[in-house]
Amino acid sequence: MSAFSQSENNSQDSLAARLKIDYLLDFQAIEKDDIQEVINGLNNEQKSIPARYFYDSQGSQLFEDICQLPEYYPTRTEASIIKQYALEIVKQTQAIELVELGSGSSTKTRYFFDAYQQLNIPLYYTPVDVSDSILKTSANQLLADYPQLKIQGKVATYHQALQQLSNNFLGKRIIIFLGSSIGNFNSLKCDRFINQLRSALNSQDYFLLGIDLQKPRKILEAAYNDAQGVTAAFNLNMLQHLNHRFAGNFKLDLFKHEAIYNQTEHQIEMYLISQQAQTVTLSNLNLTIELKKEEKILTEISRKFDLDKMEQYLSDRNLNVIKTYTDARQWFGLLLVQLS
Ligand code: AVJ
Repeated sequence: MSAFSQSENNSQDSLAARLKIDYLLDFQAIEKDDIQEVINGLNNEQKSIPARYFYDSQGSQLFEDICQLPEYYPTRTEASIIKQYALEIVKQTQAIELVELGSGSSTKTRYFFDAYQQLNIPLYYTPVDVSDSILKTSANQLLADYPQLKIQGKVATYHQALQQLSNNFLGKRIIIFLGSSIGNFNSLKCDRFINQLRSALNSQDYFLLGIDLQKPRKILEAAYNDAQGVTAAFNLNMLQHLNHRFAGNFKLDLFKHEAIYNQTEHQIEMYLISQQAQTVTLSNLNLTIELKKEEKILTEISRKFDLDKMEQYLSDRNLNVIKTYTDARQWFGLLLVQLS
């Protein structure tokens, strides 16, 4: 009998028996890399901050709010595709473990859990997220809603989680990476990610990738400049997170949110624009930076893809696209992939 499989009358105990959370964030090692990345980013000619700094507990909540916005079509569109094809995907893949990179609230993933339940196939769910609060909250909710589910969460970066998967084999896996989060990586980081992913996959495993597709600028820019200002709050919260984490003194009201579509690069670029000349110190990093009036800090790129080019890109890297799913407007794509 595995540590997971005891049944209990007390519902709290039985939830706990089906839940494990590993803390892979080796805070000391990571801290070093993180610190270097923040320092380098803020010292560059074009200042930048890595996008994962959006996701402290406040930022993860703001992202959930973004997903509800009328202008922010990606979540809704991807959810509709998953809803339509989850059963087909589960039947095709027959995986017994579902690993989700950047699981957040796991809302869209529920369509897969529904499909497993309907087919009466037991499932191990491995959510991976850098925010431990959102991981714990959603895991407990899922356990209450899906009595068959067993969860082994990882508080970790994608990189750490993928590395660990090779030591820990339960059976056939599907690794899912939704929300077009891959669009946050520039081409170098994307190549690195795909390499790590390929090493984590066994020959029968699957990878399911969600990508946001190219579309008219007006629709894209509206999605990242919502009328209620939630995306602006999400962007600014990054400075709050840095203040907190590194004893900084960013004043949030001295910055403005901007999101523009770079048509040549096919990417949304989010910036924080300094409203005046100012000096900011992050004491724990021994770092002081000077910002000019109107100087922009790049906080995120969100690339918009072409389905055929992505298929080609993957197949050039020995990843074979088994099936492509999309919506009627072709706004979003889901690619089901295996090693070739
Ligand atoms: C979760 C990275 C895919 O790029 O659309 C939403 C994050 N940023 N609004 C995206 C985000 C601003 C989102 N990703």
